[in-house]
Amino acid sequence: MTNVVVLISGSGTNLQALIDAKQKGELPVTISAVISNRPNVKGLERAQAAGIETLVIDHKDYASRELFDAELQARIDEFDPHLVVLAGFMRILTEGFTRHYSARMLNIHPSLLPKYQGLHTHQRALEAGDTEHGVTVHFVTPELDGGPNVIQAVVAIVEGDTVESLAQRVQAQEHVIYPMAVSWFAEKRLSMDNHQSVLDNEVLPPSGYVLDTRMK
Ligand code: GRF
Repeated sequence: MTNVVVLISGSGTNLQALIDAKQKGELPVTISAVISNRPNVKGLERAQAAGIETLVIDHKDYASRELFDAELQARIDEFDPHLVVLAGFMRILTEGFTRHYSARMLNIHPSLLPKYQGLHTHQRALEAGDTEHGVTVHFVTPELDGGPNVIQAVVAIVEGDTVESLAQRVQAQEHVIYPMAVSWFAEKRLSMDNHQSVLDNEVLPPSGYVLDTRMK
């Protein structure tokens, strides 16, 4: 069984989507630990309710990013995971950390990468007058939000959308595509080779696999 460690910083709705998929028998993984860099967040409660071991490693207790990442890496590696899943983990990672988990760490980012790397993606898409927006799962490389895309869900931006309404529509898709991507990895259908995502022996396009919800 594919052994996964999930890193969170907050509410953990993406973690919940993974737990739910696993409970439905749709995700052949063992989540051996959930690690948060913030204490007392809802995601930790979700993990505990599912019987998953939790750890808090508070970044504020470390004098530098390097020291924090070194401790985080050491604690993750105690679980010997095949895959590290960043699920709303709001930390910029050091290059050494990303290299250590090269081709075995996934992230989810609420935009159609490479558009809108960084924060406030929903607001930026609205302000730009975009007609579409979405969410991307990608392999993590040293470039922030820059590794090869695995899957994107595209959602329409509609008249009267606010940051909240758009975020809600995008989040619903996050909870669809993250379990899909993790299950592909667990089934050994997905890998990263030469800085490209490969699914079922085919190199994916730069967008990754596209799930276009506008056609529904
Ligand atoms: C999600 O919007 C995700 O795309 C972003 O952080 C948020 C995490 O939400 N990286 P949650 O903690 O999974 O509810």
